[in-house]
Formats: sequence, structure tokens, C-alpha cells
Amino acid sequence: MNILAFETSCDETALALISVDRDQDTFSIQDHVVYSQIKEHSSYGGVVPALAARLHHKKLPEMIQEFIGRNGRDIQAIAATVGPGLEPSLYAGVNQAKVLSTVLNIPFIPVNHMHGHIWSALLNNRGEGQKPNKSEYPFLAYTISGGHTEMVLVRGYNDYEIIGQTMDDAAGEAFDKVSKLLELGYPGGPILSQIAEKGNPFAIDFPRPMSKSGDGNMSFSGLKTAVLYYVQSLSEVTEHDKQDIAASFQQAVIDVLLLKLSWAIQECDIKKVVLGGGVTANTLLRERAQDWSKDNGVPVHIPSLALSTDNAQMIAVVAALDILHEVSGRSSKVNGSLLM
Ligand code: KG4
Ligand code: ZN
Repeated sequence: MNILAFETSCDETALALISVDRDQDTFSIQDHVVYSQIKEHSSYGGVVPALAARLHHKKLPEMIQEFIGRNGRDIQAIAATVGPGLEPSLYAGVNQAKVLSTVLNIPFIPVNHMHGHIWSALLNNRGEGQKPNKSEYPFLAYTISGGHTEMVLVRGYNDYEIIGQTMDDAAGEAFDKVSKLLELGYPGGPILSQIAEKGNPFAIDFPRPMSKSGDGNMSFSGLKTAVLYYVQSLSEVTEHDKQDIAASFQQAVIDVLLLKLSWAIQECDIKKVVLGGGVTANTLLRERAQDWSKDNGVPVHIPSLALSTDNAQMIAVVAALDILHEVSGRSSKVNGSLLM
């Protein structure tokens, strides 16, 4: 069977088509497309929810038409992200997905965005994957995005336990806020990490919040405030200052993320770690996660850059896994989603 998946939880409009082989327990991405709204939001310094929704509304019909023109109408289900995310953006995608599923008289599969960040790890570089077998569990999913920073113990499909999470800002949110504070522009994470490459990561000793809390929880809001106080202490902020601040801040965030990962593997006997979410596109995090893996003897899966940030392939994979596990309506329990 073929499933058409929609992702519109923030400022990316994305579609993916996945084929599922229920006899072989395998799936394969047939086509996918992402339209980023970065250009339209950049002059506002961040995502404007009403504008994001308008752009999804406008862009989706032409993207669907092109997609069906390329791939045909052989579709047996429609999937869409129902949460968590920006509500106006979610509504835009879910509405159009539901209309399509009603018109085509095929089922609608609701998908949790964070599950997408976890399960896209099953895709190989040809866009193929298979239903995980029991021996692959338990593993630790570490989702690090603009809205979430969570360590999730995955004991089986649909069997999740959050063992650590941020108490305030998500790591990506901290990148975005510090970028704004340094007047680097939007999107904050990628710009800040680029500037950081020219700076000295040991120039400023920013705090590593909650590093001694003895649990899996984190805090990034104090770190952002420490950057603010540091900036206020300078009579003038030069380009060189910005580079050192960016590098030292990035180093502090990654130190905390990896410290908490080390805590997690002491607490839980896991087979591997799966990273997911936009911040995993960060070059230094990717390098240091690989080093961490070697040092600790625990395999770490790092998603490709295209699968790190928001996309519809990851939503399609969850829909395929729901079919292969014969789950229906699970994601309707998504926290903070009013869409079901
Ligand atoms: O997963 P994602 O695309 O959307 C959410 O689900 O939130 O993550 C977006 C977040 C943003 O906060 C963005 O600044 C951050 O990921 N991000 C990065 C990088 N690329 C994206 N943070 C640090 N370094 C990057 N290279
Ligand atoms: Zn995301």
C-alpha cells in the first residue's frame, strides 16, 4: 500500500510518499519534497504563526498537485502531523490532509511529530527500512529540536518513557534566542553554529546548568541569561566577541547534552542511542556524539541532515510502522494537540 504523508508543524511544508510491504514488513520512500518558509519569516526575526499557516494553505495544493502528477493516484492512506507544533500550522496541514482522505475515501493516519524524529532513524540512505525486531529494544531516543529536548527510553513500538527532559527552554530554542540576542538573524541554530566555527569555545566559561542534578533533566534558560549578562557587561560587542560567545555557548549546550546522555546509559541498559530533531544538524554535536559513541562503546545513530530538520519522510515512516504494527489512532493522544 502507498501512504501520502504531510508535515506542517512549523515553517516547513513537506510531503512524502511511502510504500509499505505488509508481507515483508518493509517500507520504502518513493518521493518526498520540502518547501522551507525561511525566506518569508526572516525579516521578522522568527516564525510568525499566522503567516506560516497562510503559506502552508497556499503552497500545499500546488505541491499536492505536482506530487500526484509525478507519482499517480495509487494512494491507500493519508497521514499528517497532528502535534506537537504551532497550532495554526498544524491546522493548515491537517485540514487539507483530511479533505484529501475524505475525497479519496481512504483512511487518515494521525502522527506525532516527535515520533517522526525518533523513527526516521530506521531509513537507510536509499530511503528504505523495516519493522524493528524485538532484539533492537530497548534503545534511547534523544530528541533535540526547537520545541523539545527529551531522552526517551523506547522499550517497544508505542512503549515510551521520558527519562529526562528540559525543565524550561528546548536546546534549539536556546540557540534561536542567543542568536537573536547577538543579532545574528534567523534561523538561529544554523547561523550561530556557523559563527561559532570562527570562535574559541573555551573563551568564556558559561555555566553547565543542572550538570550535577543527578538525573536526566536539563535547563537551557539560565544559560541564555548568562549570555545576556555577559553581552551587557561589554561596552561594545565586536564580531570577534560574537564568535567567541557563539562558540562558548555552543560548547556549553553540547557539554550538557552529552553529560545527560552519559547519565542515561548508567541508568538504563540500552542497545543504542538514536538522535533526532533539528539541533542534530549541528556539526559540532554530530562530531562530539561520534566521539562519545567511541568512548562509551554505545552505537549512536545520527540522522542525515535532510532527516534531522523537519520533513515528511519521518511522518511517513511512523504511518508505515502504525500499519505494520496494526495500530490505529495512537497519535490522537498527542499532548497539546486539539486536532483529533
Ligand atoms: O526539528 P526542527 O526542524 O523543528 C522542531 O521540531 O522544532 O528543529 C528546529 C530547531 C531550531 O531551533 C533550529 O535553530 C535548530 O533546530 N537547528 C540547529 C541547527 N539547525 C537547526 N541548532 C543548532 N545547530 C544547527 N546547525
Ligand atoms: Zn521537528
